[in-house]
Amino acid sequence: MKKISTILTTALMTGAAAFLPAGASAGDGVKVEHLGLNNTLVRVTGDAPCLILPVQESSDDARINVLVDGKLAETIYVRLAQSKTDYTVPFDLSRFNGHDVVLDVVANHNRSSLREAKDAVCWEAIHLADGFDTTDTETRYRPSYHHTPLYGWMNDPNGMFYKDGVWHLYYQYNPYGSKWQNMTWGHSSSTDLIHWKHEPIAIRPDGLGYIFSGSCTIDRNGTAGFGKDAVIALFTSAGVSQMQSLASSTDNGTTFAVYPGNPILTLESEARDSNMFWNDATGEWNLVLAHALDREMLLFTSPDLKTWTLQSAFGKGEGEQEGVWECPDLFKLPVADSDKGEKWVLLCNINPGGPFGGSATQYFIGDFDGHKFTADTDANGKIPTKWMDFGKDHYATVSWSDAPDNRRTVIGWMSNWQYAADVPTTQFRSANTLPREVWLFTQPDGQTYLASSPSPEVDALRGKSVASISRKTLGSKPINATLPVENDGICEITATVDGKNAGKVIFTLSNKVGDEVVMTYEVKTHTMSMDRTHSGIVDFSENFPAVTVSPTFETDGRIRLRLFIDRSSIELFGNDGRFVMTNLVFPNSPYTTLSVKAEGGKGALESLKVYNINK
Ligand code: FRU
Repeated sequence: MKKISTILTTALMTGAAAFLPAGASAGDGVKVEHLGLNNTLVRVTGDAPCLILPVQESSDDARINVLVDGKLAETIYVRLAQSKTDYTVPFDLSRFNGHDVVLDVVANHNRSSLREAKDAVCWEAIHLADGFDTTDTETRYRPSYHHTPLYGWMNDPNGMFYKDGVWHLYYQYNPYGSKWQNMTWGHSSSTDLIHWKHEPIAIRPDGLGYIFSGSCTIDRNGTAGFGKDAVIALFTSAGVSQMQSLASSTDNGTTFAVYPGNPILTLESEARDSNMFWNDATGEWNLVLAHALDREMLLFTSPDLKTWTLQSAFGKGEGEQEGVWECPDLFKLPVADSDKGEKWVLLCNINPGGPFGGSATQYFIGDFDGHKFTADTDANGKIPTKWMDFGKDHYATVSWSDAPDNRRTVIGWMSNWQYAADVPTTQFRSANTLPREVWLFTQPDGQTYLASSPSPEVDALRGKSVASISRKTLGSKPINATLPVENDGICEITATVDGKNAGKVIFTLSNKVGDEVVMTYEVKTHTMSMDRTHSGIVDFSENFPAVTVSPTFETDGRIRLRLFIDRSSIELFGNDGRFVMTNLVFPNSPYTTLSVKAEGGKGALESLKVYNINK
């Protein structure tokens, strides 16, 4: 039987009718039987690998019990189209080849008559197909060099690990619509962190619930009993409550077998997003679990990844406490240019409570003895709140396990829970950030901070330089650089400015229809801001128009910027990643110009370069 992920039809994704196999009429191979106002049976009578389901974004979810030979195989929730089809999603029948498949659909759509129930457009439009067309229909806003799902909804990156030259990225994925639901682990793989191959779904919901966030590790000594080098996933099973479960893979993470003894860890309150790693110093496994509503991280140890002993909790009353604590990560890094040796970094994603509203990643620097994390304090004896990225669209960031050359490589979800489901894209929501290397540096205040630089693989994206300006005095008259229009909203920009004799240095991205993004370096306050209030389409959420501000972590009035623009995203890396700002933008047409000027005195534009992107 052909696999859904390997078959593409040439039909367009704009309407269900476009998917009909030649000679078929809507509903061929599908028998629809209405059982009343809210209940309909859809019997699959034909033979095809794919059932196409029509979706209407504004519709309520229908609950679909998938019966295979009369037994409940799975339950999915789909916004089945009632009055119009916005887009379609595929249901993979190839898994049930040779068996009878019936969808038992329960829709609570407040219908007043059977006529109304029967008139829902989905019944005519549901049909069998040889495949599902995943051709990109959203070239306007789909990033071209960032990871995105082919279609459907994505949130947190999960379970990333590196093995045999391949970077594996799993992610919270809804294959049945562009809003959060049906959490599975989607899977992509890459040999260069830039070009991603879309793999089949790795873990699907089971009797214990949805497959929430978690981590993977390579069990080099086979401690869990699945053989040496088995890939072990720990994740949160989210049903009525949240529990931790285990799955193992002996084919390098392509397929996972869930452990029959799941859940392996239960608590009496909400805890999720299991992040585990082998601790060389103690010869034990460690697990960090977000005790979400208690706003603390729980630390466990285990000899075998199955039996876990709670050792301590960190964070009650510390750091930002407004929202829930989620998606932890804990790792050790050397501190650059200092005698501090190594420090431990505890990533703690929170929602809401981010510096500009909604979700964001805070972190703590400290020490970890295998049982207890102790955070560094500031001059006042307080544990300071630190942010990893000063934009609005950086969340659920965690690192790859088993990365080569002692690298600590991270990736984030490039959106914000405030509006992720409302952004003006349909085929996909959302993208990941660029992969980043994290490292530690010390500031004059004695504090250690976490920097994030673009991963070295990102350098290969740099194409021909299309604009180059050097050694210019900056005043109130802007100096303009033209962006590569043929590249359609995609480029890398580097700039070095000396602002010590100026009040502000202002960088403005603009297009011909008046959209602009204004980035201002305030020299005296050592801050950099990004204003996207007039960046293009901003009215889909009151939380989207925003100005984000970052400390620049310099004392000499000089900054070096590296700016990546990818149609609907801007990532600004300052001073080798000492400060980072990630923001989404939806310009009405691609930005075409970058202008630079100074206010409150003269600045110096030491260099400005605009590069094409090699894809
Ligand atoms: C964070 C999060 C996690 C959870 C997942 C569910 O964005 O809420 O805590 O595991 O998303 O999709």
